[in-house]
Amino acid sequence: MGANRTVTFRIKRFDPEKDRKPHFQEFRFELQPGMTVLDSLLYIKAEIDGSLTFRYSCRSAICGSCAVRINGRNRLACKTQVEPLLDRKGRLTIEPLPYLPILKDLVVDQTAFWEQYERVKPWLVPPDEVPEKEFRVSPEEVAAFEDAEICIMCGACYSACTVVAFNKKYIGPHALLKTFLRVMDPRDSIVGERLEIVGGSEGVFRCHTIFNCIEACPKGLNPTKAIETLRKMVQKRDQIVAARAERQKHLTEPIRPAS
Ligand code: F3S
Ligand code: FES
Repeated sequence: MGANRTVTFRIKRFDPEKDRKPHFQEFRFELQPGMTVLDSLLYIKAEIDGSLTFRYSCRSAICGSCAVRINGRNRLACKTQVEPLLDRKGRLTIEPLPYLPILKDLVVDQTAFWEQYERVKPWLVPPDEVPEKEFRVSPEEVAAFEDAEICIMCGACYSACTVVAFNKKYIGPHALLKTFLRVMDPRDSIVGERLEIVGGSEGVFRCHTIFNCIEACPKGLNPTKAIETLRKMVQKRDQIVAARAERQKHLTEPIRPAS
């Protein structure tokens, strides 16, 4: 264990009842070894300024609510160690996620984010006839999801995307990644409708392949690749719909090991 160290957090503050625009405030405190950014925010709130406002819940990189901008990059506060990010003078800067309206301090209005998510029907739509036991999905089919199911909807990718910055009608990397997950899932029955939604003017062809979403994702996911796959699938929509209908005739049959 190392020794405590005095650090300075520069935190962007905004109180809509008092401030005309956001400003930075500095907080100095003793950092204990192993403290995360969220630990530090909780310390500041408890010991220095109880009015500091931020979101968090699980503290375990699961709920996605603590995403903020730390030293210019979107990250989860609960998953980010302070020590490696301090500059030579022991400083670190925290701001709310960019391109979204600030409600107070580090809390942003996520309305646009959730509206786009709802727009793509993020839930699985199974076939009409659901078996008593289970659907069978092969390991290869699961591998094709590319871990998209572990997305925690933190908003880091969405608010890092500069297309989102100028166009809140763009569906956005989070909702396109969810569409990718559903479209790749053989249990989903509305693949044609999904490809129609994301093939529209605010969907996959609006992405400028800026890659910020990949850099921002705290789970190491790749929305850009998913968007690229969806683009190709949109072009072959009819074939994909037919293939899905055929696959769903055999969804309850045992999976044969790949030879
Ligand atoms: Fe935005 Fe990612 Fe595309 S940052 S423009 S969704 S590659
Ligand atoms: Fe839940 Fe950070 S508090 S992801």
